[in-house]
Amino acid sequence: MELQNSRILITGGSLGIGKETAKCLVDAGALVGITGRNAERLQIAADYSGAFPIVADITKPEDIERTYQEFLAHADGLDVLINNAGLGAFPTLLDATLEQYEHIFRTNVFGPALMAQKAAAIFIEQQKGAIINIGSTASLRGFERGGIYAASKFALRAMTESWQHELRKHSIRVMQVNPSEVATAFNSDERIERTAADNKLRSQEIAYMIKSILELDDRAMIPEFSVWATNPWKQ
Ligand SMILES: NC(=O)c1ccc[n+]([C@@H]2O[C@H](COP(=O)([O-])OP(=O)(O)OC[C@H]3O[C@@H](n4cnc5c(N)ncnc54)[C@H](OP(=O)(O)O)[C@@H]3O)[C@@H](O)[C@H]2O)c1
Repeated sequence: MELQNSRILITGGSLGIGKETAKCLVDAGALVGITGRNAERLQIAADYSGAFPIVADITKPEDIERTYQEFLAHADGLDVLINNAGLGAFPTLLDATLEQYEHIFRTNVFGPALMAQKAAAIFIEQQKGAIINIGSTASLRGFERGGIYAASKFALRAMTESWQHELRKHSIRVMQVNPSEVATAFNSDERIERTAADNKLRSQEIAYMIKSILELDDRAMIPEFSVWATNPWKQ
């Protein structure tokens, strides 16, 4: 697709992967909207990236409704949804609480599902569009203390595959990106971004790949791919 003047909505654009992706796509000429829960953080990201901010919590259906109202009022249409907002909780099986399961699934699974449902209605009508789900290598394998987070990302992957079956016949591309560990504010309560060592992934690597798969001609789609650090063990 042509990114110039395309209309792209990114959830969780105030930090990390979402923020860098917004910048990368704005630099390529797209009109980008970003969401996040904290107005101040979101405005700083909007100033940095050139995207426009929509303060919204993806766990709240009424916020999702308003996200689309504000985005469509501003952009007059939608070409791409990037389901990026997400967080983790990493208790052991014995320590995990129902509240943790519910909160992570509301953020990583139910929110993206409701966002995609609204995007799909628009895309089916126009017989084109793209949905990118930001999964994780935790979408592909479980690990110790991964019972909640990996389960949520497995669920996201299952939705990606199912939506591919439903939407491909409408010329809609549904794609999933599975980053390995990226230096961001992920899972930090202080919401402070980490600095990447030379051998660790930065948000920029993921943003570049997202831009690349969107830029493919519409006749082609990459269903899913992972991004690894080449040598994360290097001292
Ligand atoms: N970093 C990694 O190692 C890594 C690896 C694989 C996959 N991922 C995935 O990549 C995505 C982005 O993660 P990141 O590393 O960039 O994390 P991050 O730096 O913590 O950024 C997460 C973004 O999501 C927003 N967010 C969180 N909860 C939200 C909610 N309920 N409603 C709306 N926005 C919300 C945050 O903004 P506010 O806090 O202001 O709401 C922030 O903009 C996530 O889906 C994550 O699972 C990350």
